Amino acid sequence: MSTSPNFIREFTLIDRGSRVKAQNGCAPPCAHAPMRPSKPLPSPPKCLESSSGCELNPKDKMRNSVIFVSGLVGVLLVACVQAQTPSPASKMDAFIFDLVSKMTLDEKIGQLNLLSLGFDVTGPVVNKDVEAAIRAGHVGGVFNTFTPAATRKLQDLAVQESRLHIPLLLGFDVIHGHKTIFPIPLALASTWNMDLVEQSARIAAAEASADGLNWTFSPMVDIARDPRWGRIAEGAGEDPYLGSKVAQAMVRGYQTGDLRNTNAVLACVKHFALYGAAEGGRDYNTVDMSRIRMYEYYLPPYKAAVEAGVGSVMTSFNEVDGIPGTGNEWLLTELLRKQWAFKGFVTTDYTAIKEMTEHGTGDLKHNALLALKAGADMDMVDEAYLRCLKPLVAEQPSWEPLVTEACKRVLEAKYKLGLFADPYRGCTPERARKEIFTPANRKAAREIAGRSFVLLKNAGQTLPLKKTGTLALIGPLAASQRDLLGSWSAAGDWKQAVNVLDGIKRAAGSDLKVVTAKGANLVEDPYMLEALNASGADIVTDEHSPQAMIDEAVATAQQADAVVAVLGESFAMSGEAASRSDIGLPAGQQDLLKALVKTGKPIVLVMMNGRPLTLLWEDAHCSAILETWFGGTEAGNAVADVLFGDCDPSGRLTASFPRSVGQIPLSYNHKNTGRPYGGDPRVKYVSRYLDVPNAPLYPFGFGLSFTSFSYSEVKLDKTSVQGEGPLLASVTLTNTGQYAGEETVQLYITDPVASVTRSVEDLRGFQKIALKPGESKEVVFKITPDALKFYNRDLVYDWEPGQFIIRIGPNSRDLKSASVQWSKS
Ligand code: BGC
Repeated sequence: MSTSPNFIREFTLIDRGSRVKAQNGCAPPCAHAPMRPSKPLPSPPKCLESSSGCELNPKDKMRNSVIFVSGLVGVLLVACVQAQTPSPASKMDAFIFDLVSKMTLDEKIGQLNLLSLGFDVTGPVVNKDVEAAIRAGHVGGVFNTFTPAATRKLQDLAVQESRLHIPLLLGFDVIHGHKTIFPIPLALASTWNMDLVEQSARIAAAEASADGLNWTFSPMVDIARDPRWGRIAEGAGEDPYLGSKVAQAMVRGYQTGDLRNTNAVLACVKHFALYGAAEGGRDYNTVDMSRIRMYEYYLPPYKAAVEAGVGSVMTSFNEVDGIPGTGNEWLLTELLRKQWAFKGFVTTDYTAIKEMTEHGTGDLKHNALLALKAGADMDMVDEAYLRCLKPLVAEQPSWEPLVTEACKRVLEAKYKLGLFADPYRGCTPERARKEIFTPANRKAAREIAGRSFVLLKNAGQTLPLKKTGTLALIGPLAASQRDLLGSWSAAGDWKQAVNVLDGIKRAAGSDLKVVTAKGANLVEDPYMLEALNASGADIVTDEHSPQAMIDEAVATAQQADAVVAVLGESFAMSGEAASRSDIGLPAGQQDLLKALVKTGKPIVLVMMNGRPLTLLWEDAHCSAILETWFGGTEAGNAVADVLFGDCDPSGRLTASFPRSVGQIPLSYNHKNTGRPYGGDPRVKYVSRYLDVPNAPLYPFGFGLSFTSFSYSEVKLDKTSVQGEGPLLASVTLTNTGQYAGEETVQLYITDPVASVTRSVEDLRGFQKIALKPGESKEVVFKITPDALKFYNRDLVYDWEPGQFIIRIGPNSRDLKSASVQWSKS
């Protein structure tokens, strides 16, 4: 196993160069076309190593050097002015106008070029050819390089040695923390606490910017109703309302409201669009859906991010309405810029232009033009723009303004980040030492992790555990550190992560004896093992036989008063290119659990996984189940906090847990159909399965606390409402249990009659309410017509008068309701 602190050095390269087709008319393809790692891997842009594909021609070089001095003076002057004055839009426009007027076509194209570039473990080593490319103005941004030393070196090259001194965007996949790693995004959303979500993004931005970065490829807001899709781990789940709130909280956290703050980073909402709806849950697969479904269920979180001022958007690998997202003009221009008034810039996803050839839309040159015309401003890794745009403009000079426009958008982002005033944004090794991985950040990670866990079952109040007697801690994930960081661990060092074993030992005190056994391998299936290990999962199979491991675990369990079994997925089983067709516990772990259950001891199943799993057997046989996702750097401490009752498990699911894979796609906000199933299995011609109920095992919004809550009936302040209302809907919530706890009170609305079919219900509000034992509170929702709106057949977002059913409760299944008539006037 690699000892590298950084996941990006832990993955092997998969050479996709051989799949590149002939590129008619562009600068020659490179001897080694850019390689696609299984995760973003810092690799020198090979194309730039050879002079053939990328060099400026001698005439351009000459012209560049002639205007070097005058350009330098001009830019420095304007930069000085910018440094001392605020930057209203008009000032920015004047600055960008002036700068662009000095740029050659090559330099404009250079701004559209985004490279993946790593650095040596011992320090920043920039490939000589990349240095040359940056000096020549052929690079607009670099990603996968961080640390003050490395990023300063890159920035030095750009601002001191390129003709126009234009600083670089420095990006990275800071997805759920930079070095202090928070729970995976699906878990963050499970807090249903937007302050905590924002705080996690805020800390991530502060650490990333202290490490020299100014751009993160986050938030990912793709709605997913299919947990076979591994990237469900990276999003907020299945609901557009909650997904929109999370998207906005993350944008606020990253960008801080003013990108000039040196502890802010530019956010990038992705993957635009519909990437989470891949057929069969297979990553990168085809997406096909009606416009109404898009607008109603899949597009809102992207739109919400745009409304929150997100500075950049990343395209998606999939097609939208038969056209790849990266070359889809309707998507990137009509919808994003015209309908939603997005003002930032668009980057492609990793090699997405090249992949359009595989989609079947033509060769690289054709696709570069399609992407540019569609509105993709920056080209990630492909160098398709670098190679193809100049020849294209030579053929058709009227395309140059498209290049200029795209270039301006990239420059505007740099301006908004204050990069022209201070390209380094106050980044120094001292600041990095002070601001990264601090005790305060780790404390926040621990608190947020604890509040992201979802208690799925707690029969007979098995939890919280007492700190006396003997506890058996069993399972392949009990001592794991690497898995805790999830699939995007950014710059996180898994060796600094606290595993469950250590967390429990620290919390246990002297009266609790902890005995341990591994019990099973994470994965036994050779087909899956091979795939996982080929992409860096590093799953080591134990030298003992599966039966010997189970026997040892059973013997260990027999000595104990209770068993905590830490089971689930390897970090590499979710995330990008990690789809599964069977989303149960891997077979070897199931065998272990069955043997543990037979001991008759109370079994607390602590799950770690990046997606909803099918846990029907586990639900029927374990005493308690705690879903802990991949909880980040402080996961082990947070698990101990919850198991011993120091933190109430207040997380609630944001994606349904199916009973069986056959139910997928599954979401609470499905349509009623013309033949809805009423629950009587003897009724035949209705929309149902013969072998499994329609309902999920654990519904959207579900989660238990150690305490219990009761809900009164729903009270409405009126039974008929006119116009803007508002309607006040309330319940009295009472803590009826023994513990203080926090409930997530959820509001859903049903619109039973409309001009287009509606969901059976839609989430329209939620509140987190903390109550002491015996305490009650009236929880009020103020409902306005905004909550009644939907996209009609003309895709107009409006509401229609009539009856509405207002539902309030602890999750999407167990709701109390009241009916109201709402008229337009
Ligand atoms: C992923 C993106 C990611 C990019 C850069 C792509 O493969 O789809 O989410 O931001 O790589 O690492």
